[in-house]
Amino acid sequence: MTAATPHPTRRVSPRVLTEALYRAAVAAGRAPSAHNNQPWRWRLTGDAMDLYLDPDRRNGGGDRIGHLDMISCGAALHHARLSLAAQGWRVTVHRRPRPSSNHHVARLRIDGPAPASAGTARLARAIRQRHTDLRPVTGSPLGPLDLRTLSRAFTSHDISVHILRPDEVLTLTLAAAHARNIEAAEVQWHEQLTLWAGAGRILGTVDRLRLPTRPGDHDRAATFVVLHGGGDQDIEWLHAGEALSTGWLVATQLGVSVLPFSAPIKNTQAREALRRAVPDLHHPYLMMRLGRHMSAAGAAHSTRLNTAEIFSAPHPL
Ligand SMILES: Cc1cc2nc3c(=O)[nH]c(=O)nc-3n(C[C@H](O)[C@H](O)[C@H](O)COP(=O)(O)O)c2cc1C
Repeated sequence: MTAATPHPTRRVSPRVLTEALYRAAVAAGRAPSAHNNQPWRWRLTGDAMDLYLDPDRRNGGGDRIGHLDMISCGAALHHARLSLAAQGWRVTVHRRPRPSSNHHVARLRIDGPAPASAGTARLARAIRQRHTDLRPVTGSPLGPLDLRTLSRAFTSHDISVHILRPDEVLTLTLAAAHARNIEAAEVQWHEQLTLWAGAGRILGTVDRLRLPTRPGDHDRAATFVVLHGGGDQDIEWLHAGEALSTGWLVATQLGVSVLPFSAPIKNTQAREALRRAVPDLHHPYLMMRLGRHMSAAGAAHSTRLNTAEIFSAPHPL
């Protein structure tokens, strides 16, 4: 009989493991969350960290089902995984480890050391730079290479990203213009859609769509995308959050801002408008505005990493 191989982390001092997990929890604290509520808490034990939904920090309002919270937890989970990978640890992830517990979201366990790739280290550095940018998008529109890179980054675990075509954005804009009893959560995306369509210069009706034209117009520099997939279980919303985190960090590397819109999650009218505008989405998880901004000096914010560099690196996680 051969002796069982000791788990690789047995040879690592507990203090080193705790410090690695602690740093991962701190990195996860920088993850985006709806209304910045950070609806999670971590429990660190030995070589593992458990992610829990924190009932005291859950989103109220229109998100009764907790979808926004699951997306936020998914983003925190990805941030923690990425941090551990960048610190040189290989990790096993169990999502929903105890199906009977609504609050136990995931368990990360360190399996042993593994060298971090340059791409992983770079992506982890973007955690500190990533932020929500509410400014109007005024830079040049994203090109096909940017869009391909971002689509790839936002696509994982059966979560796909759909880039809205101009006619789809216009359909949404018109639906928004005709909406009644607009709730607070909707105002922001209405404003953004209207800005894109030329603020009050929409021509035509839902049946006869026509975009206003204005040469050199920067209103339309924004790109609207939707994260979507086939399922509506907690696990799919969690995966959507992980995809959001990966895509947002890659966008940060490219100097592209991401502005999520909760309205289609929280508000039935907004969700139906989105489903009508883009019928093949199955389950839309999150709509986002992507774009580049002009600096005060008038130059587009510099691209921190070019698309070719990101393409050359294997997808870190
Ligand atoms: C699921 C989700 C939904 C969000 N919805 C909105 C939104 O509708 N409007 C908005 O301005 N920001 C939205 N955000 C961004 C958060 O407000 C932002 O992440 C949070 O305030 C923390 O700020 P930071 O991203 O700069 O770290 C959303 C973020 C997440 C994860």
